[in-house]
Parts: sequence; C-alpha cells; structure tokens
Amino acid sequence: MEIPSTNASERQSADAPAYKILFVCLGNICRSPAAEGVMRRIVEENGAANRFVIDSAGTGRYHIGDLPDSRMRSAARRRGMNLIHRCRQVTEADFDNFDMIIGMDASNIANLRRLAPTVEAERKIHSMGEWLDTAAGGYDYVPDPYYEGAEGFELVLDLLDSGCRRLYQDLTTGNHHLNKNS
Ligand code: 4NP
Repeated sequence: MEIPSTNASERQSADAPAYKILFVCLGNICRSPAAEGVMRRIVEENGAANRFVIDSAGTGRYHIGDLPDSRMRSAARRRGMNLIHRCRQVTEADFDNFDMIIGMDASNIANLRRLAPTVEAERKIHSMGEWLDTAAGGYDYVPDPYYEGAEGFELVLDLLDSGCRRLYQDLTTGNHHLNKNS
C-alpha cells in the first residue's frame, strides 16, 4: 500500500477538527447548552463529528457547574437529546480556542464584545440570528426562555434546530468562511 508523502504538520492539520464552535447565552443552562446538543446531533447525523469541536458557555456566572435547566433537559429529552453539559463562564482563552463564538441574542453579543481581548477575537463573534429563518416572520434572535412557560423551551429548540441546520450547511458547503487569523 502506498503511504502518502505528507509531513507531520500536514498530517496534523488534516486530522484536526475543521470547525470549532462555541455557543453562548447568559446563564449557559437553557439556550446555549441546547444549541450545543442540537449541533452535536446534526454533525453526528452527517457523520462529521470528528470534524467539529462544539461547546457552550455563559456570560453570567449564576449557575457555574450546574447541569442545564431541568425544563430544557426534559424538552430536549423528548426530542431524543441528552443534555449533560456543565455550566461554565466564557473565558478569554475561548477567543483563541474557538473559530466562531455564537451569541443567542443582542445582549449576549454586547457582553461578548466587552469580553473580546483583541479586534481579531471580536471578529469571531456571531449572532445565531444570522442562521434563523426570518423570512417566515420568525425571530432574528433566540429568546430567553428562563422566565417563560414550557412553550418557550419548545420555541428555543425549534429555532435552534432549523438555525443549526442552516449553520451546518453554510460551513460544509463553504458559504461561510471562518475568519481564522484575520
Ligand atoms: P440562558 O437562560 O441564558 O438561556 O441559559 C437563563 C438562565 C438563567 C438566568 C438567565 C437566563 N438567570 O438569570 O439565572
């Protein structure tokens, strides 16, 4: 069998995950761990799990170490997803470790901009709204369900399901260019 003549650094970049995505909300117990779970499922369905690093974090520090909110865990479980993320706060290192940092609403984005250590880091910040289908009269952000009833959690999962599918398509068809090193 022929052994391809790649050097060590080429082999490493071929093996390295192509997309490193951090989803961010305020508490990191409702929306962003749900986004993490939804995106994990999409990449697994597409046999692409080894090409992605997917994580979530919060700008607040109210729930550090906690599992996602029990209402979100139940809603996700009904859709076949087991959310086991432990809440953590966004760090400066996240801006180095991830290619895209995706906030759920305008307040998350404003908080992320304050945390970004450099202009390059700030360029990694995106809004989940970029991938939501607003043409259908829908939301251009993912609303906070924490003080809402059960329907708020279902709405978040619906928005994230279609939004993350569009994000996956954008990334894997080359429509979205990660501004790495830009
Ligand atoms: P999340 O929802 O940002 O979607 O995780 C929230 C969870 C907790 C709080 C606010 C929003 N809180 O104020 O504790």
